Amino acid sequence: MIGIDKMNFFTPNTYIDLVTLANKRGVDPNKFTIGIGQSKMAVPTITQDTVSMGANAAFPILDKEDLETIDLIVVGTETGIDESKSSAAFIHQLLNIHPFAKSVEVKQACYGATAGLMMAKDYIKAHPGRKALVIGSDISRYGLNTSGEVTQGAGAIALLISENPRILALDDTSVAMTESIFDFWRPNYRDTAIVDGKYSNEAYVNFFTTIWEEYKNRTNHSLSDFSAFCFHLPYSKMGRKALLPVLENESEELATKLLKNYDLSTDYTKNIGNIYTGSLYLSLMSLLDHSDNTLKENDLIGFFSYGSGAVGEIFSGRLVPGYENFLMKEEHIAMLDERYDLSIEEYEAIFNKELPKTDGTHPLSEAKYDKSLFYLSSITDHQRHYSQRQ
Ligand code: HMG
Repeated sequence: MIGIDKMNFFTPNTYIDLVTLANKRGVDPNKFTIGIGQSKMAVPTITQDTVSMGANAAFPILDKEDLETIDLIVVGTETGIDESKSSAAFIHQLLNIHPFAKSVEVKQACYGATAGLMMAKDYIKAHPGRKALVIGSDISRYGLNTSGEVTQGAGAIALLISENPRILALDDTSVAMTESIFDFWRPNYRDTAIVDGKYSNEAYVNFFTTIWEEYKNRTNHSLSDFSAFCFHLPYSKMGRKALLPVLENESEELATKLLKNYDLSTDYTKNIGNIYTGSLYLSLMSLLDHSDNTLKENDLIGFFSYGSGAVGEIFSGRLVPGYENFLMKEEHIAMLDERYDLSIEEYEAIFNKELPKTDGTHPLSEAKYDKSLFYLSSITDHQRHYSQRQ
């Protein structure tokens, strides 16, 4: 058995309430809170980036033995901080993982962390007893006053992958699909994404239904085998749009169960927004943290990973006996409760701030807002330096 042994997420300390945003943009707040299904949106200061958020997500779950056993660090991201050096190499150092490990970054929009998870599973299969760290870390930016603005967000997830996992054992069967399309993309010279919103929604649903048909053919699984389905959630209503059509021919009892668990899986996304690569795994943490142990050992959980451009994959895993003892529910809820509620002026000022791009030493400080353990503390001659709060 190989799978998720420990897991955690991190989101920055600052957010904007979406009713505040709707009022400022002259939009009916119900469009954001009911139509899109979002309540709050994480807004990172310039001192939080893909590296610091990834390290903040991983640090709390790693003990000394993990640091000596992790051979592979994969960061899935589409908002990396360097075209050459991987964010994984920075994170390897910040976490103090032993030197004889490999560190890489992978990219395919929001699918990247799933690619990392599959790499990690194969690595552990070939190297029994060793471990892999998979991180998904991103900042979602469309721009102020755009239709995508309400679906921004920021955060990271960390998964420790090992043999005999204590949370979720991954199945070997999965079905992936690729089609080169332009539903959402970001050329290298831009720091905000370009999106064809309606088409991206259609592509997402089309990928799910097409892969699901193939998955059923290849695995002989039916929907009734699953206790819950987790989705990549660019906003909380998106997965439901994909799930509803496949529930049409199912019993009311099954539909009720899957939709109830779907709702539980969306709570963290509603309060954080789109975290791109980490989103699917944030929905797993939301589901397990909120299910009050109604999900039992050996229950089968389905996963739909989607990354624009586009690659999708459906895979599955079974809950391990005692999984509930290894969740970090209290820490997660405290992290969300302790955040700072930004005014619209603060949000726009933080959004518009840019990192220095010139030679020399540039100390960075956002101490009023950013209380995180790891943060970007300076840029010296184009090199990023991170600090760890004591
Ligand atoms: P929009 O045009 O602003 O909104 O774009 P809309 O007019 O489509 O309305 C949204 C919903 O609100 C609709 O409900 C309206 O009826 C409802 P639906 O038909 O969807 O059920 N509505 C209201 N409800 C209550 N009261 C009201 C009201 N008014 C309207 N007064 C869109 C919305 C999500 C397209 C936009 O925000 C966007 O482009 N976001 C970014 C793209 C995105 O998230 N796409 C999702 C699929 S692609 C994906 O998941 C990949 C991604 O994560 C990137 C990656 O892979 O890296 C994005």
